[in-house]
Amino acid sequence: MAKKVRLKPRGRQADTRDTNILSDLINPNPNRRDLLIEYLHIIQDEFGRISKSQITALAELMKLSMSEVYETASFYHHFEIVESDEEENQPRFQVRVCDSLTCQMYGSSKLKKEIELLCGPNYKTHNVSCVGRCDKAPVAVVGKNTIEYATPTNVDRAIKNNEIRPAQINPISLEEYLKSGGYATFKKCLANKLHRNDVIEELKNSNLKGLGGAGFPAGLKWEIVSKQKKSPLLVVNIDEGEPGTFKDKYYLETEPHTFLEGMMIASWVIKSKHNYIYLRDEYHACLDMLHSEIDKLSRHFGSKLPKIEIRRGAGAYICGEESAMIESIEGKRGMPRQRPPYIAERGLFAKPTLAHNMETLYWVRDIIEKGSDWFANHGRRGSKGLRSFSVSGRVKKPGVHLAPAGISVMELIDEYCGGMLDGHKLYGFFPGGASGGILSAEHKDEALDFGTLNETGCFIGSAAIIVLSDKDKARDYALNAMKFFVRESCGQCTPCRVGTEKATMLMQSKSWDKDLLKDISSVMRDASICGLGQAAANPLDSVLKFFKHEIE
Ligand SMILES: Cc1cc2nc3c(=O)[nH]c(=O)nc-3n(C[C@H](O)[C@H](O)[C@H](O)COP(=O)(O)O)c2cc1C
Ligand code: SF4
Ligand code: FES
Repeated sequence: MAKKVRLKPRGRQADTRDTNILSDLINPNPNRRDLLIEYLHIIQDEFGRISKSQITALAELMKLSMSEVYETASFYHHFEIVESDEEENQPRFQVRVCDSLTCQMYGSSKLKKEIELLCGPNYKTHNVSCVGRCDKAPVAVVGKNTIEYATPTNVDRAIKNNEIRPAQINPISLEEYLKSGGYATFKKCLANKLHRNDVIEELKNSNLKGLGGAGFPAGLKWEIVSKQKKSPLLVVNIDEGEPGTFKDKYYLETEPHTFLEGMMIASWVIKSKHNYIYLRDEYHACLDMLHSEIDKLSRHFGSKLPKIEIRRGAGAYICGEESAMIESIEGKRGMPRQRPPYIAERGLFAKPTLAHNMETLYWVRDIIEKGSDWFANHGRRGSKGLRSFSVSGRVKKPGVHLAPAGISVMELIDEYCGGMLDGHKLYGFFPGGASGGILSAEHKDEALDFGTLNETGCFIGSAAIIVLSDKDKARDYALNAMKFFVRESCGQCTPCRVGTEKATMLMQSKSWDKDLLKDISSVMRDASICGLGQAAANPLDSVLKFFKHEIE
């Protein structure tokens, strides 16, 4: 039989006009699949959206299938995908109103409705998850301009004046950091005046634990990665998406070189030649600042500096989970990987990978210079070290408070936060952002540290404390947290994808179906692939345990 001749290539065809525009704008490198998300960012930044015909053109230029590009683009909240012919009519800019825990407490739903009435045709309003300014709630973002203590008036002003750029930040520059003795320890590393094993021992003795939430001992992790046969990579996690958490942003906006020096010391110890910084997209001002400070660093250290690449997240909380972050750096959807293998053995680009939260690396320089005891001697109730608490909610002085590990919430509120707001009495608190559960005021004297809250089913995680008062109901915030997990679940496993949705539905009734909710919670905990699904039911379980009177 004669072979059928295909007259047209299979699938959607790229428009030459789009391929020409994208070639000029991006000049995509088909051998760098890992840059796909960076390319999508360039298109989104330029046009305020990504059209399907641009996706087809990008796929052609990168020699990928259209579905690969589409599934990646559509995974991330920050990419606005439109049909081509809709393009002209779409609003150019977005106003994002945070509806996570502390912003809800400070009236974000009313604010969103009021903003919608004000927005002209150039703007489109969305709800988004926590943008890391919970101490200044409620928060709205106009274009890339984050508006703290947002009101209809200041948002309207920003819209009318087209104020869409991020506010300036003034961190300690490289010149200032060097003047105050910065990079002395890294220079000692380069001159081989330190021994790699001694640095690891110092870290182990300091009791420095991973401050991204899991609390894994940092020194031990460096040792494990150092022992791998293949040459390793290093990844710094600045995704900071846990609602209530803003400590990394604080250190990044004030003294970025302290963590960069920590990163370089780590890189020297494990012998990594290539470091990646994964920065959450919401931290717009930090992106430009980091690019410029790293450029200066390359000029200062020349070829002795390991390669440093910055990658922008695109608004997906799950990409803070280390294996999802690695997938995202590889240019894919941020779907967590099954373990084993652990990323320390086989991580980014299949190489052994040391992944650290930014704040963990921030402490490395001081621990080496001041000694492990300096760090370990801080602490209360038998805990060792310092914790940067992101505190928000019903306190007089919300913000990042550096306090001894093991401090109680009452001490934190009284000694660091100026007490509860006038007219408010402590009712409960989230000890570790949305995923750490909710404790009642009865737990006000418990030590806040890794592992100390295990009996309550709660954890401290990234040390995001959200304080509730007698004006609040825990069930409202548990529901808010569950809705957050519905929005942020990557959808890969059924217990998490379906469980979060079903729980959200049930949690909206006045009186809860406790048995069914307990059942859903235990299936999610036992059968989800990653920490998101395993912890998503924590606030729900806390209400069942500590706030029963609210749901009967
Ligand atoms: C759902 C989820 C989200 C996470 N988000 C973050 C994050 O935003 N930043 C972070 O540093 N770690 C986050 N983590 C923890 C990381 O997976 C990982 O443990 C951490 O980056 C390792 O660094 P560390 O040892 O310095 O903490 C998250 C974990 C899970 C399960
Ligand atoms: S637990 Fe949730 S977020 Fe994690 S892999 Fe499963 S579906 Fe994705
Ligand atoms: S900025 Fe809104 S809850 Fe964090």
